[in-house]
Amino acid sequence: MLEQIDFTTKNILNKTNHFKPQVGIILGTGLGKLVNEIKIEHEISYQEIPNFPISTVQGHNGKLIFGELNEKKVMVLQGRFHFYEGYTMQQVTFPVRIMKAMGVKTLCVSNACGGMNPSFEVGELMIIKDHINLFPTNPLIGKNFSELGPRFPDMSSAYKKEYIALSKQIAKENNIKLSEGVYAGLTGPCFETPAEYKYLWRLGADVVGMSTVPEVIVAKHSGIDVFGISIVTDLGIEGNVQTVTHEEVQHIANLQEPKMTLILKELIKRI
Ligand code: HPA
Repeated sequence: MLEQIDFTTKNILNKTNHFKPQVGIILGTGLGKLVNEIKIEHEISYQEIPNFPISTVQGHNGKLIFGELNEKKVMVLQGRFHFYEGYTMQQVTFPVRIMKAMGVKTLCVSNACGGMNPSFEVGELMIIKDHINLFPTNPLIGKNFSELGPRFPDMSSAYKKEYIALSKQIAKENNIKLSEGVYAGLTGPCFETPAEYKYLWRLGADVVGMSTVPEVIVAKHSGIDVFGISIVTDLGIEGNVQTVTHEEVQHIANLQEPKMTLILKELIKRI
């Protein structure tokens, strides 16, 4: 793993004239337009990056983007890798290892999710304050490389409190409704049954999705600070479970994109 990280990092450094990003961003479903706000300096498609998996899901463009956003140097993953695509947890989280090796200190993740909290509405924006790992595995299983992080990383504050407070302030200043909650990460690719949504809500999760948790675990292992934000694209509320399609998820995510972009942009400016 160490050699792979080293090889890929050197390859990217060569292709980007030794670009040094401060902030890493993983763009989720339908949230790709943030790239329009970036002064792009380099773009590399995943196919051109050694050891990178290739994204297979419709609506996820696979490229790494390097540039400036609000005067901060950013490295953006346009299109993430999901466990349900058949990748290993190590493959899913490999880009986060590369972000760390490139110098990233802060990771911003976004995703689309289903909401179980009865006070949520379709289109709700939610800061992730914590998560529950319901994947059947963990990206840190296997030999631990102490060069990368500790064997038993602390997860008592996986999502940095300062960023949560800042984002709430930004939302308030801009009249954007922003909730806070717990994200349950599980494999998919099925959406949940009514009984599963009920189970997840009783477990203490406000929303559920198929990503984010693996990347956040590896970011924390690497000593990277994390900010996470979700768009609730459908509801799994007891007695009111709607049918859901990938197209609807993308449609709702696209509608809410400007607000989410504003919060992320402003947050990046202030950190
Ligand atoms: N469940 C899991 N993942 C999701 C959902 C959902 O309801 N909506 C968007 N991503």
